[in-house]
Amino acid sequence: MKSIPIQRPYLGEEELAAVRDVFSSRWLGMGPVTRAFEESLKEFLGVKHVIAVNTGTSALHIALDALGLAPGDEVLLPSLTFIASAQAIVATAARPVFCEVYPETLTLDVADAAQRITPRTRAIMPVHYAGLAYAMDEVLSLARQRGLRVVEDAAHAFGSRYKGRMIGALGDVTCFSFDPIKNITCGEGGAVATGDDELAARILPRRVLGMERDTWSRHSGQRGPARVVVPGFRYHLSDINAAIGLRQLARREEFQVRKQEIVRRYDAAFADLGGVQPLKHTEETFPFMYVVRVQDGRRDELMSYLKDRNIDSGIHYVPNHLQPLFQDQRPSLPVTEQLFQQILTLPLYWEMTDEDIDTVIAAVRAFSAAKGQRRSQVTHPAGS
Ligand SMILES: Cc1ncc(COP(=O)(O)O)c(C=O)c1O
Repeated sequence: MKSIPIQRPYLGEEELAAVRDVFSSRWLGMGPVTRAFEESLKEFLGVKHVIAVNTGTSALHIALDALGLAPGDEVLLPSLTFIASAQAIVATAARPVFCEVYPETLTLDVADAAQRITPRTRAIMPVHYAGLAYAMDEVLSLARQRGLRVVEDAAHAFGSRYKGRMIGALGDVTCFSFDPIKNITCGEGGAVATGDDELAARILPRRVLGMERDTWSRHSGQRGPARVVVPGFRYHLSDINAAIGLRQLARREEFQVRKQEIVRRYDAAFADLGGVQPLKHTEETFPFMYVVRVQDGRRDELMSYLKDRNIDSGIHYVPNHLQPLFQDQRPSLPVTEQLFQQILTLPLYWEMTDEDIDTVIAAVRAFSAAKGQRRSQVTHPAGS
């Protein structure tokens, strides 16, 4: 019997041809193709600076590092995120301060974050969970009032918008991931986007070992050894990966349209189910994953019911504050801990066939029907 994964990258002959061209050029590291990828990203996002890197985690790390955080400085973020968000903060010697999320979107609860601000708080990191940028006006206004920098973790949200504005052109600095399952992939990759000239100038040398000029600039005419001006990392993107990203960027719209269609079909099919509640979605989202809340304590039961029918599902994520690494912190996050027991990620990927979608829907509905779970009306809290 065919199995249905949760996520799957979608790469084809076009990406392979682009990689072959890079092989033929004999320049495999960061060079002209990475530059072209950055230029295309700048144009697409409508932002002044894009710095391509090797992973989304590196993007977050150099963005935070460029803010000049000192040991003991604090960065606010939701606990319910991939561990990369918190590890990027830890790598700067700053301290992650974990916050609650809104149950209907699983994005940062801004009022809760505001309560956790201390004199050491320097930045706030909203995570655009599953592709949705939510309450960003509130995040930006809190940051303005309290003098905080905003570092967006947009690993899930490449191509999404917020109130008509492209994600990447909203806050101080935005970080994307192009890992294998993201909205577009480079194989592995990431990018930092910012409109802030000074910040961009601080981020750039951190990408390649603190050097003022990278190997390609020197190769392509600028002579002399590079000056090393700041501590830096080896986070550059290779032309092999950039070539994949460029092709994927050109196909972005078809990916987005199909994934939105799948989300609409799921939302409609689950609207009358009692125990299984979809997250809030907007037409501005490039959906990354599809998450429901199973509210009757039967999440694990649904997961194994699906597994028995060869349908994969997952739990995204273990709240960061529950990880042994952060055992000295143990903040009180009852909403997050309850949500952790409820969340379930269902299959969502571009190549899902209509039959795959119907199979998932039928299984979830059959599970609910078996226990007589129905509700007459779905209510979503109003929000921005
Ligand atoms: C929310 C979030 N932030 C950061 C990252 C890190 O991206 P990468 O895997 O490219 O390092 C991920 C990756 O899954 C993520 O989901």
